[in-house]
Amino acid sequence: MISHVLPTYNRAPISFERGEGTWAIATDGSRYLDLGSGIAVNVLGHANPDLVAALTEQAGKIWHVSNLYQIPQQERLADLLVEHTFADTVFLTNSGTEAAELAIKMVRKYWHDKGEGRTEILTFEGAFHGRSTGAIAAAGSEKMTKGFGPLMPGFRQLPWGDHDALRAALGDHTAAVMIEPVQGEGGIRPLPDTCLRGLRDMCDQSGALLVLDEVQCGMGRTGRLFAHEYAGIAPDIMMIAKGIGGGFPLGAVLATEKAAAGMVAGTHGSTYGGNPLACAVGARVMEIVADDAFLAEVNRKAALFRQRLEGLVAAHPDVFESVRGQGLMLGLKCKVAPTDLVTASYAQHLLTVPAADNTLRLLPPLNITDAEIAEAVDRLDRAAASLA
Ligand SMILES: Cc1ncc(COP(=O)(O)O)c(C=O)c1O
Repeated sequence: MISHVLPTYNRAPISFERGEGTWAIATDGSRYLDLGSGIAVNVLGHANPDLVAALTEQAGKIWHVSNLYQIPQQERLADLLVEHTFADTVFLTNSGTEAAELAIKMVRKYWHDKGEGRTEILTFEGAFHGRSTGAIAAAGSEKMTKGFGPLMPGFRQLPWGDHDALRAALGDHTAAVMIEPVQGEGGIRPLPDTCLRGLRDMCDQSGALLVLDEVQCGMGRTGRLFAHEYAGIAPDIMMIAKGIGGGFPLGAVLATEKAAAGMVAGTHGSTYGGNPLACAVGARVMEIVADDAFLAEVNRKAALFRQRLEGLVAAHPDVFESVRGQGLMLGLKCKVAPTDLVTASYAQHLLTVPAADNTLRLLPPLNITDAEIAEAVDRLDRAAASLA
């Protein structure tokens, strides 16, 4: 008999009832060190007092207001995002998938209004942009699309890192290029800065819009507020979600005035997008994360973590191949199945996340402590030893 919860996930037999910082506490009282953060969501850990205060203060005032009215909390968050990024304008969503949908609509509307009718969006093998019909068509992998056809047209997937294929595909007919600066689900694969700069140049030459998906790698995860900042370039459109809400459902599309020009009143909307609760939390997350001293700490801890992980890889050459990633978006390329390591880590009361390309993802809260990093590596060491 089918479970009452639609069985689209293979769930571990653990349920959590509380959280404290980097620790998730199960219903039996046992404490798990959380290096998954709900897949790069809880950037400030569980039950962060600043975020609890922002949420409860807003909850006592007003929860939901239609976008038919002005929403000051939404304006405050949009102001912060514009102040700290390339963007001139922001649309708030409830998830990364919704942000992807709007990004695709914005690209199409831009070219429609220019009268050029360009519709092809180039995407990349290993990409993940969400699970809507548009987002699975964009990523195009068989795993996500099989059985869900006919797929929405207008996307063409290119191999990851194949410059010749990109040069051959990107031309005067291209509407946009959509890419994650660091692939998350695809296996923690950072796009080298030179490639991102090259991509920006190619888009400028052809007129194509550059759309970055920073849903997973954004919000301080890589040690800069947004990963593309390392390359010194700016996109035309960017999707964010996950970390911006610190655990409350929230996403956004950020865009330049030029890219967003077609999105006039009536072209897009959302009942819940930009609601006061989510925006109150999002603004507090931005105030904390978009701070140079906070990001410097992320980088210091990332260097420490990476150094320890290099030692772990050297100690278990049969289990691990290499460390990859940027900032606190770390991956361990494995020689065993990453799901085996995830299971072995549960036994050590450690939460990790598998990814494609045989990679184990480590996405701790950005305020993880040095002692917790040491503890996490000890637990990973024991998990790896248990597989040998
Ligand atoms: C890069 C990227 N884009 C989009 C999404 C979809 O976001 P959501 O699950 O919030 O809809 C994800 C989720 O994992 C993601 O990692």
